[in-house]
Amino acid sequence: MNLKGKHFLKLLDYTPEEIEYLVNLAAELKAKKKNGERVDVLKGRNVALIFEKTSTRTRCSFEVAAHDLGMGTTYLEPDSSQIGKKESIADTARVLGSMYEGIEYRGYGQAIVEELAKYAGVPVWNGLTNEFHPTQMLADLLTIKEHFGHTKGIKVVYMGDARYNMANSWMVTCAKMGMHLTLCSNKKYFPDPELVKTCKEIAATTGGSITLTEDAVEGTRDKDVVYTDVWVSMGEPDSEWEARIADLTPYKVTKSVMERAGKDAVFMHCLPAYHDLKTEIGKAKGEQFGFEDLEVTDEVFESEQSVVFKEAENRMHTIKAVMAATLGAF
Ligand code: CP
Ligand code: NVA
Repeated sequence: MNLKGKHFLKLLDYTPEEIEYLVNLAAELKAKKKNGERVDVLKGRNVALIFEKTSTRTRCSFEVAAHDLGMGTTYLEPDSSQIGKKESIADTARVLGSMYEGIEYRGYGQAIVEELAKYAGVPVWNGLTNEFHPTQMLADLLTIKEHFGHTKGIKVVYMGDARYNMANSWMVTCAKMGMHLTLCSNKKYFPDPELVKTCKEIAATTGGSITLTEDAVEGTRDKDVVYTDVWVSMGEPDSEWEARIADLTPYKVTKSVMERAGKDAVFMHCLPAYHDLKTEIGKAKGEQFGFEDLEVTDEVFESEQSVVFKEAENRMHTIKAVMAATLGAF
């Protein structure tokens, strides 16, 4: 498998074999890290990390992974560079591409990261856009593989906002990897029909399936993975909160959802999560709208079935695999 020079912008651009290769490489790199083996095979290289939205996991994963591989990093925080304001994406890409061996981008439209990739001349990695979050998906696949021993045939229910980056990414992932996805949401939050069509066509070739339902009872029955994400994503207006809470509360992950999924089901979440009121925004919104939790109850989040922190750790190992493979280290 040779992924040298390939961008990592969305999983639609990758074959199931390439995705599997990256997940397996991440598992190998994780084992090496646990054994204390060094993998600093990219010494002397440098990568630029552009974040137009905030981050904990993705930023730390890119930084730690780059350092483990022997590389230097430059973090460009939201609003600290000329990008998009005084300098176009095409010009920024050519400047950074002349100094760095790879560029990570987290921000808004998918078109921005695609444009960056077009002009950079070096691999560009998508660290989250409004449409897709592909590095999260590799971490989720690794977590599922570690837990169940395989990914093919796994039944996933995704609950909540089904028209944004995480649900889109889950559709692509399940289609590519022969997994069964149920998107369980209010139909106002169903994904773009064009992407649904594309994913269903791919799923027909891999043995996977994509189902959309508003039925939170039938939709959550007999599943391996119960997944959710925040109801209001980064960059969305504050005014959305009221309608989201009204529309998506029936799709909260509760103990009864987990019971219906089955005792062997796991709970997953890309994080950060509003599972209690111990955050500034959670507390303010909780007081304003009268809730104790949002997309998942604290009981489920803290339960034995929750694998969210293993999932978070796997962000680092999988991002390391993406950089190592596309920079030609393995
Ligand atoms: N899951 C995820 O992307 O987390 P961050 O926003 O902290 O990077
Ligand atoms: N949908 C969320 C994902 C965060 C990892 C957001 O875009 O804010």
